Amino acid sequence: MSTIQGCVIVTGGAQGIGKGIASHLLENGVPVAILDCDAEAGEECLRQWNQHAQRMLFTQTDVANEDSVRSGVDTAVERFKTIGGLVNNAGIATAHGGSVETLALEDWNRVIGVNLTGCFLLAKHATPHLRKSRGAIVNIASTRALQSEPNTEAYAASKGGIVALTHALAISLGPEIRVNCISPGWIEVGPWKKSSRRKEARHSDADRLQHPAGIVGEPQDIASAVEYLLSESSRFITGQNLIIDGGMTKKMIYV
Ligand SMILES: NC(=O)c1ccc[n+]([C@@H]2O[C@H](COP(=O)([O-])OP(=O)(O)OC[C@H]3O[C@@H](n4cnc5c(N)ncnc54)[C@H](O)[C@@H]3O)[C@@H](O)[C@H]2O)c1
Repeated sequence: MSTIQGCVIVTGGAQGIGKGIASHLLENGVPVAILDCDAEAGEECLRQWNQHAQRMLFTQTDVANEDSVRSGVDTAVERFKTIGGLVNNAGIATAHGGSVETLALEDWNRVIGVNLTGCFLLAKHATPHLRKSRGAIVNIASTRALQSEPNTEAYAASKGGIVALTHALAISLGPEIRVNCISPGWIEVGPWKKSSRRKEARHSDADRLQHPAGIVGEPQDIASAVEYLLSESSRFITGQNLIIDGGMTKKMIYV
């Protein structure tokens, strides 16, 4: 059983990595509040995890909208009283991609709004509750905070912002609240999508073997680290960026 006291808010917890995190926490006896904008996916989680009904809630929330975030946090507090952790996981990729010369300001703003401003808004509204419980925050960044493919400016900037926001919050909110981030590499989320979007994981040997660890990551690889960073076991760790990418960012790739 986990040492986490109170409920953990998981944004974007209805699918993908966030769903893997929510599932892992519930299996370890931790109550979970899923704040996600996708009602179909959220309702599916409630049905799928019926055995955990007493320990979970889903509330439809847009993390980029302050009123929606305030209401999502209030709903979690009303139901569970104590908030012991916050996982800022909700994220989107650049809506239409394309070169920096054609990237619409609206698309740039939406990616920054969901990925980065969302982390700020959740931290802002959850902090009074996390102070009381001496809880912890884990933000989900990306290895794209550190390295890029072409035409990914908005996403990379949002994730770099999360790494910086993490150490800023750790300094502002300590010692009551610890704040860390995780930068995942390639995590296969196909099997963790809502049923209308679910896809079987299919990887070639090349997909796997390009990783020094020899595998493509799964949500469970991130979930177990989130649980660690929220728990007492990591009490001396704050402001850090834990890279979980099968070793990809340590590989020299000169042709
Ligand atoms: N999958 C990867 O390989 C990978 C790698 C590095 C980082 N990440 C990061 O991990 C996080 C999860 O990614 P994923 O691959 O599981 O994505 P996903 O698309 O499978 O799931 C994201 C979830 O967030 C929700 N969401 C999107 N916008 C939202 C909003 N405005 N408000 C509330 N919820 C919202 C979606 O409805 C969805 O349920 C993201 O922050 C992503 O940038 C993913």
